[in-house]
Amino acid sequence: MATAELPKVHRALVQRVYAEPLQVEVIPTPQPTAGSAVVQVLFTNVISYMGDIYNGTRKYSYATPLVAGCSAIGRIAAVGADATLLQPGQLVLIDSVIRGRDDPTAIILSGIVDGVSEGSRKLMQGEWRDSTYAEYVKAPLENCFPLDEARLCGTPASGGLGYELARLMYISALMVPFGGLRDIGLEAGETVIIAPATGHFGGAAVFTALAMGARVIAMGRNTEVLSRFKALSARVETVRLTGDEEEEVAALQKFGPADAFFDISPPQASESTHIQSAIRCLRHAGRVSFMGGLLGEVKIPYAPVMLKDIKIHGKWMYSREDAGLLVKMVEVGLLSLEEKNGITVLGTYPLEEWKAAFDKAAENPSVGQIVLLRP
Ligand SMILES: NC(=O)c1ccc[n+]([C@@H]2O[C@H](COP(=O)([O-])OP(=O)(O)OC[C@H]3O[C@@H](n4cnc5c(N)ncnc54)[C@H](OP(=O)(O)O)[C@@H]3O)[C@@H](O)[C@H]2O)c1
Repeated sequence: MATAELPKVHRALVQRVYAEPLQVEVIPTPQPTAGSAVVQVLFTNVISYMGDIYNGTRKYSYATPLVAGCSAIGRIAAVGADATLLQPGQLVLIDSVIRGRDDPTAIILSGIVDGVSEGSRKLMQGEWRDSTYAEYVKAPLENCFPLDEARLCGTPASGGLGYELARLMYISALMVPFGGLRDIGLEAGETVIIAPATGHFGGAAVFTALAMGARVIAMGRNTEVLSRFKALSARVETVRLTGDEEEEVAALQKFGPADAFFDISPPQASESTHIQSAIRCLRHAGRVSFMGGLLGEVKIPYAPVMLKDIKIHGKWMYSREDAGLLVKMVEVGLLSLEEKNGITVLGTYPLEEWKAAFDKAAENPSVGQIVLLRP
């Protein structure tokens, strides 16, 4: 086992009892075991509904006590004896999607939810309970994606992209829509309707689909954000989500039949008309990716789906291959994290200020804006 000098204890944001307030505690530092790395956390994401997860509003199922968290950027501090690539000091992105090694369909989101099977719950009960809102985290080796620090953070004069470390955290937002868009086989030159496009993951979907070479029809209520998308590329068209299905269909049809539709609705959009409008505007054998957080039932226009051989796929997160490819797309410069595209670090907070960070993230940040903890 390659262990650097790990401190005996570290600070972590702990929840002792489900839905009770989090608190910073000093607890034993995790140690590397076979198949894992211990990573020193530099920055970790605060998603907009983090407060609602940990106060029980979202009713996400997870084991307690736990160290809260999700995806993160960090440096490898120590690795298990079977690590073949990762080395102490290396910059990595820690992917929060943890899968059973003997059953990859057993999936948890680190620090957030223990999945839908007995196997997934076992993953969170035991080995992978503690997440990234801490100075150190133990992560599966395969969840640590090496980042080319010289390329990503080096100066343009030295062939780098000049990103500061915190900005790299937006990569994890881009991975989500990439999972769904790849799952439905989106190809360069195709047209994809993205709706609602004006939120955190909807905006990430617009950036990702453009980088994949597609033409994007961004659909949403917020015309200011839609006009920002329009300015990104000649391959962006926009359609206002008005709640009038016939009006939306007419607006979408101006751009011809779409090849694909990517939905990323939040629970509040359960009555929105865009799912019906977008499906009605797909070509024969068009594909649909459902990645939203809708909890109830949704109206589907059954006849067009049947008559046009439409394929509807659900997708939770992304595959390991998707995550690795997405990192490469950022490293080669195909997907930009630049400020001019609206990618902005709104704030970085120490663990002790977790509440301020949760509140900031909940203030409905605009597309590309991220809030981070800096343990
Ligand atoms: N499948 C997965 O793996 C996966 C991964 C991550 C997240 N998700 C899900 O994705 C959902 C979206 O997350 P997010 O962080 O992108 O949310 P967000 O930033 O809050 O964005 C919400 C979007 O929905 C729109 N919207 C809200 N209420 C609406 C309504 N009544 N009618 C029409 N549009 C409405 C918003 O439009 P305005 O801009 O006009 O307000 C905005 O575009 C979450 O619920 C989450 O559960 C799924």
